Amino acid sequence: MHRTAEYDTFADIYDVWVEMAPSAHRALPFYVEAYLSSDDPVVELGVGNGRIALEAARQGKAIVGVDASAEMLRRCRERAEALGVADRLTLIQADFRDFQLPEPAWLIAIPFHTIGHLVTPEAKREGLRHIYSQLAPGGRLILDHFIFRPEIARQHQAPSLRTEYTDPQTGHDVLLWVLTRYNFETQAMRILAWTDELDDEGVLIRRRYRRLSFSWIEPDQMRTLLEEAGFEIEALYGDFDRSPLTETSPEQVWIVRRPERP
Ligand SMILES: C[S@@+](CC[C@H](N)C(=O)[O-])C[C@H]1O[C@@H](n2cnc3c(N)ncnc32)[C@H](O)[C@@H]1O
Repeated sequence: MHRTAEYDTFADIYDVWVEMAPSAHRALPFYVEAYLSSDDPVVELGVGNGRIALEAARQGKAIVGVDASAEMLRRCRERAEALGVADRLTLIQADFRDFQLPEPAWLIAIPFHTIGHLVTPEAKREGLRHIYSQLAPGGRLILDHFIFRPEIARQHQAPSLRTEYTDPQTGHDVLLWVLTRYNFETQAMRILAWTDELDDEGVLIRRRYRRLSFSWIEPDQMRTLLEEAGFEIEALYGDFDRSPLTETSPEQVWIVRRPERP
C-alpha cells in the first residue's frame, strides 16, 4: 500500500533543508557507526535520499532502506549508482506500519526525528508494534527525536527565511521560507516550507509551497510506547555523543531491543 508521500514534493529541497539542521549533522556519524558495528541485516526506516545509508554503504555495509516516497527513493538509487554502491542497497517502498523485510533485521534505525511523521499516538503505536515484528529476537531499534521546547515552538510559528541559495539546475536565486503551526494539545505540527525563485533583477518568478505533517513526543511518552510494544530499553541519551538525557538536552536518542524471549 503506497499512501500519498508528502516527501515527493520535498525531495528537491531536502539537501538544502538538512544543511541548515545541526542535529542532522550530529546524527550522521552516530548512525553510520551503529550500522557498521551491527550484524546484518541493517534496515533504515525513512531512508530518504540515502544521506546516512549511502555513507555506510560506501564503507562496505549492506543496507535495506524503507521509505514511502518514490521520489526520495529515486534520488537514493541515483546517488547509490553514482557512488558505485547500488549493489549494497535494497530499497523498499512502503509505510513504516506495513513494510515486509525479506528476513528479520538485527538493527532497525529511524534517524533524524522521523518517528514524528507518524503523527498520532495510535500511528506511533502501530508503527512500533510492526517494527518489533520485523526484528529478530535480540535485535535492536535505534531512534531519535528532538526535545520539544515551547519557547522555540513559539518562535517557529512566524515565517522565517531558512536560507538563500542558487538552484544549480536553473541558475536562479531561491529563498527558502518556513513556518510551523503547532497544536499544543495533540502535539501535532504542520510544517509549511516555500521557495521563492527570483530572476536576475530579484523579481519573483515562481513560488512553490510544500507541506509536511509532523509531531513531537515527550521522553516519558516515548518510553511508554516502546515498552507497550514489547521493547527493552538499553540506553537513553540526550544527544548523539551519548551524553545523558538532562533538562537541557537537545535530543532523546533511544537504543532498545526486542527481547530474546517474549
Ligand atoms: C526527515 S527524512 C529522513 C531521511 C534520512 N533518514 C536522513 O536522515 O536524511 C524522513 C523520511 O521518512 C519518510 N517517511 C515519512 N513518513 C513515512 C512513513 N509513514 N512510512 C515510510 N516512510 C516515511 C519520508 O518520505 C522521508 O524520506
